[in-house]
Amino acid sequence: MLYGFVSNMNLAIIGTGYVGLTTGTCFAEVGHRVVCVDNNEEKVAALCRGKMPIYEPDLEDMIVSNVSAGRLEFTTDLGRAIRECEIVFIAVPTPPHEDGSVDLSYIEAVTREIAAVLSPELGYRVVVDKSTVPVSTGSKVYQVIERYSRKGVQIDVVSNPEFLREGSAVHDLLNPDRIVIGADSQRAMDLMKRVYQPFNAPIVEVDLASAELIKHAANSFLALKISYINAVSAVCEKAGADVELVAMGIGMDKRISRHFLNAGLGYGGSCFPKDVKGFINVAEHLGAPMEILKEVERVNAAQLERFIGRIRRKMWVLRNKRIAVWGIAFKQNTDDVRESVAVKLIRSLCAEGAIVTAYDPKASATGAAVLADCNVTICDDMYECTKDAEVLIVATEWKQFAMANLVKVRENMRLPILFDGRNIIHGENAVHAGFEYHSIGRKTLYPEKS
Ligand code: NAD
Ligand code: UGA
Repeated sequence: MLYGFVSNMNLAIIGTGYVGLTTGTCFAEVGHRVVCVDNNEEKVAALCRGKMPIYEPDLEDMIVSNVSAGRLEFTTDLGRAIRECEIVFIAVPTPPHEDGSVDLSYIEAVTREIAAVLSPELGYRVVVDKSTVPVSTGSKVYQVIERYSRKGVQIDVVSNPEFLREGSAVHDLLNPDRIVIGADSQRAMDLMKRVYQPFNAPIVEVDLASAELIKHAANSFLALKISYINAVSAVCEKAGADVELVAMGIGMDKRISRHFLNAGLGYGGSCFPKDVKGFINVAEHLGAPMEILKEVERVNAAQLERFIGRIRRKMWVLRNKRIAVWGIAFKQNTDDVRESVAVKLIRSLCAEGAIVTAYDPKASATGAAVLADCNVTICDDMYECTKDAEVLIVATEWKQFAMANLVKVRENMRLPILFDGRNIIHGENAVHAGFEYHSIGRKTLYPEKS
């Protein structure tokens, strides 16, 4: 790939998780020198040994090549990173509190650590918030730095939200639809534009507060699109219509677009659930409630309940029924199981006394850890997982599942009942293999009686 130019800026990233590690690596890939900092010593030591903390397509090779080119390094030494780098990105967690408000304690802690290192002699620094935060967090970060650093330090605070999707993070970072930069100072804006010049992407230059709001509003809108099509899928089931055809028909209107109109078991992951909650909370506090987002959450929760209800109606009692689940990760191409709907489904089936086996191409270790208190057997092979099963459920949209040899699966199973929670199996193929095929927002297909 050709990038705009090689600019060789020195960038520090505080927090080497999904966002910090992938953005840091992609900044290095386009020519910057990047120091990734994390306070998790084990994680940093592992990265220094070349061991990846997450599975993300194409990431490992890119890390290896940039480390060996001297453009990327990992450290626990936050002070050195700030002394060496003019721009400091914050990419630490912003998890939800019980009441849905955003826990900003990680941001506050890092901000104080940065403040303690800054000095007038060090010169100008730009502190960039890349974590997803409520509007007006940037101005609080600025106040904290002023309060805790020595007199005379020169800083600006910028918001630069991240829009990568897990499972395609490297691709998304190198080919962004747009870069959002929120800054109230031209000096900071100009520096940030230099950081992103190699990406050849449109830059949306806005004020700090608007940039923060763009991120919450974007994630909430995508979640809303998913809940919309899931609500439509319930209507399709009642009306005998096909949600895939409806999504195609409405999605071809460019004003709507087909993206994020895949009906399924609902959205999960570390971001949509928390960011919808966060935005509801922020809007309420500002006195401009986003009631529409409460309905988005309600539809999302109802979608899984409705699906489990359909399985219950089909199988009557779930206790002691052998149920195979394909998919544990919250989406395809990742080993991330945070807020995974597949995990919620497995928990719910186990709680009803079903005998559950599960398989995921990448999330068996992360899945086993989060389901340790659950009586589920995690299998190494997708076919072994279906052995003697009475129902097979597809819970995550992995390509492997769509490409499965359904005849082999059918031969493995005790009963030929397939519930496709992601509409990825070709229904006709399932029926030809002898399955009764249940999916989302479409008619159930039955095999011909011989
Ligand atoms: P993560 O939990 O994967 O990683 C956060 C990292 O920060 C961890 O490695 C942790 O050890 C480190 N950390 C915490 N406190 C620290 C400190 N004081 N000093 C140094 N390191 C510290 O989180 P994530 O998924 O990368 O998310 C980070 C932020 O980015 C969140 O606000 C999230 O909403 C946002 N975001 C995430 C994604 C995504 O796909 N995961 C996409 C866009 C935005
Ligand atoms: C999402 C956004 O897409 C990113 O732009 C954003 O940066 C990120 O959140 C974030 O802020 O962390 P991510 O959660 O990684 O990215 O993955 P998505 O592809 O958005 O999927 C989220 C969930 O929605 C998954 O559970 C997926 O199965 C579900 N989904 C997605 C649907 O049910 N239907 C769809 O049409 C699309």
